[in-house]
Amino acid sequence: MKTKKSISPPMLLLLFLYLSLKPHLSIGADTISANQTLSGDETLVSKDGNFELGFFEPGNSSNLYIGIWYKKVSVQTVVWVANREIPVKDKYSSELTIQDGNLVLLNESKMPVWFTNVTSASSRSSPVIAVLLDNGNFILTQGSSSSSLNLSDPSSIPSLWESFDNPTDTWLPGGKLSYNKITRKLQILTSWKNSEDPAPGLFSLELDRSNNQYLIKWNRSQEYWTSGPWNGNIFSLVPEMRLNYIYNFTYINNTNETYFTYSLYNPSIISRFIMDVSGQIKQLSWLDNTKEWNMFWAQPRQQCEVYAYCGAFGACNENSLPFCNCLDGFKPKSEEDWDLKDYSGGCERKMELQCPSNSSGKVKKDKFWEYPQMQLPKNPVSVTVDSAGECESTCLNNCSCSAYYFDSNGSCSNWNGGILGLEQLSANDGSGRTINVRLAASEFSSGKNTTGIVIGAVVGSVVLVLVLLCLVLFVIWRRRSKMVGSGKAVEGSLLAFSYRDLQNATKNFSEKLGGGGFGSVFKGTLPDSTVVAVKKLESIGQGEKQFRTEVSTIGTIQHVNLARLRGFCSEGDKRLLVYEYLENRSLDSHLFRDNESMVLDFKTRYQIALGTARGLAYLHEKCREVIIHCDIKPGNILLDAEFCPKVADFGLAKLMGRDFSRVLTTMRGTRGYLAPEWISGVAITAKADVYSYGMMLFEFISGTRNSENSLDGVVKFFPTWAARVIIEEGDILSLLDPKLDRVADAEEVSRLCKVACWCVQDEENHRPSMGQVVQILEGLLEVNLPPIPRSLQVFVDSQEHIVFFTESSSNQSSETQSKTSSTSANSKSTISSKDSPV
Ligand SMILES: *[C@@H]1O[C@H](CO)[C@@H](O)[C@H](O)[C@H]1NC(C)=O
Ligand SMILES: *[C@@H]1O[C@H](CO)[C@@H](O)[C@H](O)[C@H]1NC(C)=O
Ligand SMILES: *[C@@H]1O[C@H](CO)[C@@H](O)[C@H](O)[C@H]1NC(C)=O
Ligand SMILES: *[C@@H]1O[C@H](CO)[C@@H](O)[C@H](O)[C@H]1NC(C)=O
Ligand SMILES: *[C@@H]1O[C@H](CO)[C@@H](O)[C@H](O)[C@H]1NC(C)=O
Ligand SMILES: *[C@@H]1O[C@H](CO)[C@@H](O)[C@H](O)[C@H]1NC(C)=O
Ligand SMILES: *[C@@H]1O[C@H](CO)[C@@H](O)[C@H](O)[C@H]1NC(C)=O
Ligand SMILES: *[C@@H]1O[C@H](CO)[C@@H](O)[C@H](O)[C@H]1NC(C)=O
Ligand SMILES: *[C@@H]1O[C@H](CO)[C@@H](O)[C@H](O)[C@H]1NC(C)=O
Ligand SMILES: *[C@@H]1O[C@H](CO)[C@@H](O)[C@H](O)[C@H]1NC(C)=O
Ligand SMILES: *[C@@H]1O[C@H](CO)[C@@H](O)[C@H](O)[C@H]1NC(C)=O
Ligand SMILES: *[C@@H]1O[C@H](CO)[C@@H](O)[C@H](O)[C@H]1NC(C)=O
Repeated sequence: MKTKKSISPPMLLLLFLYLSLKPHLSIGADTISANQTLSGDETLVSKDGNFELGFFEPGNSSNLYIGIWYKKVSVQTVVWVANREIPVKDKYSSELTIQDGNLVLLNESKMPVWFTNVTSASSRSSPVIAVLLDNGNFILTQGSSSSSLNLSDPSSIPSLWESFDNPTDTWLPGGKLSYNKITRKLQILTSWKNSEDPAPGLFSLELDRSNNQYLIKWNRSQEYWTSGPWNGNIFSLVPEMRLNYIYNFTYINNTNETYFTYSLYNPSIISRFIMDVSGQIKQLSWLDNTKEWNMFWAQPRQQCEVYAYCGAFGACNENSLPFCNCLDGFKPKSEEDWDLKDYSGGCERKMELQCPSNSSGKVKKDKFWEYPQMQLPKNPVSVTVDSAGECESTCLNNCSCSAYYFDSNGSCSNWNGGILGLEQLSANDGSGRTINVRLAASEFSSGKNTTGIVIGAVVGSVVLVLVLLCLVLFVIWRRRSKMVGSGKAVEGSLLAFSYRDLQNATKNFSEKLGGGGFGSVFKGTLPDSTVVAVKKLESIGQGEKQFRTEVSTIGTIQHVNLARLRGFCSEGDKRLLVYEYLENRSLDSHLFRDNESMVLDFKTRYQIALGTARGLAYLHEKCREVIIHCDIKPGNILLDAEFCPKVADFGLAKLMGRDFSRVLTTMRGTRGYLAPEWISGVAITAKADVYSYGMMLFEFISGTRNSENSLDGVVKFFPTWAARVIIEEGDILSLLDPKLDRVADAEEVSRLCKVACWCVQDEENHRPSMGQVVQILEGLLEVNLPPIPRSLQVFVDSQEHIVFFTESSSNQSSETQSKTSSTSANSKSTISSKDSPV
């Protein structure tokens, strides 16, 4: 019993009502039997308390639905909804019950609003019960009580109906998305309409059985993402699955149905797939320490890749928040929906079109407004014309035409009705086109009134603007000459820039050096002609004051292997960082480049590995507060003119705050560097950086991204292969980047491999510290043979075994064998245990 509190009269009344009116279900039951009902606040709880079923209200909505949610997750997370489309209003007079062998939800007037549609003769002959299972499946089965069922093996229970066969937006472990060959029915995941309305939205995930792949479609028709065919281990367009140490996917194809299902390698992790209202499929895991869902994977990666995400006449912009805006001249059709991030309704005209112009020609005709830098919508109607003018008039003369595009080659495209899938591209994107959208002429009329007053007003405002401009320029000039010209430091050793300073320095952000999860980087030149790299941070979740505090902390950290922060800008919602510019830019451009003349030799790679380790060791061990980088990858290792590595972007994880995991997941390829603890929900320590560093070392050796397929089409995950070669004492040099022609010190390659393998151990405390890595690479500490991490053993396909064993057994030279014995006998080694690198 709970601790006794004084019960207020309303509570007492409720309690009384509860006790007097609801004798049907015992509290904590997992079953509804034939003569029972579930109503009001009653819930079913599965045997081990994983899931709970009952009435719920999504968000601020007053609508009620029957749903299943996690019992052990403190944020109510609904995984299944029965009456998606028809809510009830009063849970005390509505009830879920069993009638004629079917589950039925009765509304306030006892009319069925939702029911299972089982028509089996046998269901009437023996009692039927509905049981909530511990895997989140709610089943209808024959029996008198749940004790007659073997609940520890849910898949063995014969069911008449199950919620897993009728999923809503969530795919739970053990569930499936199938094609039923007998009924020819596809099971699909459909997004909610918005966070407060579980009714089916426009986005759905379904199986494409002819190609063994999954597709995401808009409105069940327009496909905008595909997983690529299943090759036995992974979906071919989801290469990061190869690093999948969480989900065990299985493909089933039998006479009745074909489907994929998955389980969790570690059943204690709470994890789910959803078809999100954003039109993306997402993997989320519950982090108990932070009490929130951590999204660590999403497809499509870019929000604007979701077809028609912003609805008709809405434009998606990857670099703005919110992502959707109406075109000029349009407004959201439903403000409430837009506030709930449901943009599917799109936009409508502020002013109605004149077309068809009625009776006389007096009414002004419609006009076209130019929208530059757009990604054109799909499915245009091509028209043959001779000129741009003719293209315009074909559109103008057809009232259903709402936009046209005329390209320099002379081809004319028209779009009819509401235009979907417009995307606003950034200024420096070469694929941007100018689309002309039809607007009512009255939208243009404001500036074209009769002369006189207008001219006066125009002249007046021009003068005013000029005066203001001069004033602004003067102020800017004063500030700039104060700050940069005299080199006067603000905020410790950092320079504070105005946004305009940086706009000028980067020529309005025209020369992009790179982009990543935190934002894009542009090259710039300060007035004193120092070259800098300006990072424009995106979606920063921090106020100005906190930002300045964090930035000044980062500014004080200086080390030869860390990129130096020179200044920052914090103005309105704009946050920029100014770094020293490094000649050779980032490591990935050198490591993964095909250009033969620019290959980094192994000595240089080794030195870069060592320098990077020193920089990280400094962040982890020498700073007042441990700084965890959280995003170690070749793109974040910058190289100066002498190829001395400098770690960039440190401290940003803290700067980005809560948005960080979101940012991480949207980054292409980053998943491959993330340590398992990012997903399993324990607190992140510096050892997460060690893991990423280890993954990166493998790339130093192979010269290709770990996530890439090998050329011969055989799925060969390099870290796994390398780990095996090390352990089997195979031909170490065979691992080396082919571009290096085996030119390398085998001892150093072996050391690098072993360090890499130790760094990616599953157990954090089996991984070395960065300080130890430095010592090993310096040759001061000997390194033991590592075990193969479990996460690398998973998803090793049989082909790979064959490839590996033939290579290693044939190449096992006496040279490597003698080296083994010398290694183990080495006096420098401080062998402690099998679980430790040194
Ligand atoms: C419900 O049915 C069970 C057997 O099926 C019976 O034992 C029980 O008494 C019934 N309860 C009520 C309230 O009718
Ligand atoms: C519910 O409404 C309140 C007040 O209008 C608002 O602060 C809150 O964010 C809303 N919650 C959700 C989940 O929309
Ligand atoms: C209950 O459902 C029936 C049938 O759908 C409907 O006609 C009726 O208006 C509903 N009652 C209430 C109170 O919503
Ligand atoms: C229930 O099933 C029958 C026969 O299978 C079908 O004709 C009917 O349309 C179904 N009803 C609903 C509401 O799905
Ligand atoms: C229930 O299923 C589990 C797992 O399949 C099995 O080990 C156990 O023996 C079964 N128990 C009964 C009573 O059938
Ligand atoms: C979705 O498709 C249906 C026809 O399949 C159509 O009637 C409906 O208007 C479409 N929805 C949107 C938002 O375009
Ligand atoms: C993956 O799942 C399949 C089918 O459920 C099972 O046979 C296999 O043992 C699982 N693999 C691992 C590594 O757990
Ligand atoms: C699934 O199995 C059927 C036979 O049961 C076979 O004809 C079909 O080709 C298989 N499909 C795939 C994609 O393997
Ligand atoms: C296919 O369905 C039939 C009838 O429902 C059933 O007897 C059979 O066991 C099923 N086959 C498989 C492979 O599940
Ligand atoms: C013609 O246009 C005028 C002004 O836009 C409008 O008031 C009138 O209703 C229209 N007549 C018809 C027949 O559409
Ligand atoms: C306008 O364009 C639509 C779509 O191309 C076409 O079906 C329709 O016939 C056109 N109307 C006229 C009057 O040309
Ligand atoms: C114009 O035509 C050329 C040659 O046919 C082609 O390469 C180019 O892509 C076309 N441009 C556009 C915008 O379609």
